[in-house]
Amino acid sequence: MIRYLINGILLFEICVILIFLPPKQPNDKDMPKIASKAHSMPASPIRKLVPYAEQAKKDGKKVHHLNIGQPDIETPQVVLDKMKNLDIKVVEYSHSAGFQSYREGLSDYYRNFGINLNPNNEIMITTGGSEALIFAFQTCLEPGDELIVPEPFYANYNGFGVTAGVNVVPVTAKIEDGFALPPISEFEKLITPKTKGILICNPGNPTGYLYSKEELETLRDIVKKYDLFLFADEVYREFCYDGAEHYSCLQLEGIENNVVLIDSVSKRYSMCGARVGALISKNAELMSMALKFGQARLSPPTFGQIAGEAALATPQSYFDDVIEEYVERRDIVVNGLNKIEGVGPKLASVLVDGGLATFAAVAAASVADIQKILDEAEGNYARFSPDTWPQQAKLATEGKWDELKELQDNLDGGKAK
Ligand SMILES: Cc1ncc(COP(=O)(O)O)c(C=O)c1O
Repeated sequence: MIRYLINGILLFEICVILIFLPPKQPNDKDMPKIASKAHSMPASPIRKLVPYAEQAKKDGKKVHHLNIGQPDIETPQVVLDKMKNLDIKVVEYSHSAGFQSYREGLSDYYRNFGINLNPNNEIMITTGGSEALIFAFQTCLEPGDELIVPEPFYANYNGFGVTAGVNVVPVTAKIEDGFALPPISEFEKLITPKTKGILICNPGNPTGYLYSKEELETLRDIVKKYDLFLFADEVYREFCYDGAEHYSCLQLEGIENNVVLIDSVSKRYSMCGARVGALISKNAELMSMALKFGQARLSPPTFGQIAGEAALATPQSYFDDVIEEYVERRDIVVNGLNKIEGVGPKLASVLVDGGLATFAAVAAASVADIQKILDEAEGNYARFSPDTWPQQAKLATEGKWDELKELQDNLDGGKAK
């Protein structure tokens, strides 16, 4: 009897102890702590709109996803033929700076624009423009350094900044100025002893703005004055419209050692999956240091380089056709936006001067505005993506052509004013 009683008391105590034990923290012992860097890494801003778009779909609305920069334009035939007829027995690593033949081909490509580059030490092939940006930051910037970037800007610059421990400092380009380069005085206000560089995207994603030679020359002056790096993301260099010509930062005289160029085949030849880009600079020390990062990751992708090299033979007619098509899409989106009730004067669409036709900026569209549009929509709506600048959303018209046509029909038929 007493034994049962003692057993009962013991059982009761064990239960009490179990109940009052503090709950086990997953991070306590059985899981190592994730680095704070990973927590600071920003998730894609496009994700913020996913729940709204999903809700709109649940409510039976058709959502046109025009937000992801994945062109549906066909890759040049010369590339597809090359890849179909490959006869390779071993998929090898390449030189860490990429195939010599490809670097020579790229040097010829740049010579056509009056830019002379030594293929042996001024061009390094990378895994997309993304890796070129990462290598550029890792090579040139210390953790804690500051990098001034005209905003709105390509949202992943924030992520690359976090990867390198660098603080991205935005300088606002105004929509009412068509996103022209902010006055140099605005840059100067932001310069501190930690400022190490300026990053521009030309033509700009998402603004489409194409910097003039004069604007770039003002940047050259400030870069010289404060001894800064000028990172020039020119991955959209082919996408200039209405006869406008691209002027490269590599053409700026007197800052050859400051300019670091980012290139990519992704959008130029609609080859995002090739994962090939390039890091380019005339600064010999910078390039030899960057190559060490390249050596650590061994090699850029072999198939991607074969495709990239083949793409150099793409005829001009390919680019002419692509630009004609993008202009047509731009017009559909911009004209369509102007017809949407509630977008009208409040969310006036702006077609940015001579810029990248794949983007149309929409003034004053916050995530809340967009949510409202999706909530109130009775018919069909396009999905906007929020950008780094809260006052603006962007629409990427690289989306599916059929979707755009459908959107146009809906706008013309249903919600048109
Ligand atoms: C402005 C800009 N820079 C760089 C990239 C990186 O592209 P990738 O790594 O595919 O070359 C992109 C991709 O959309 C971009 O828009």
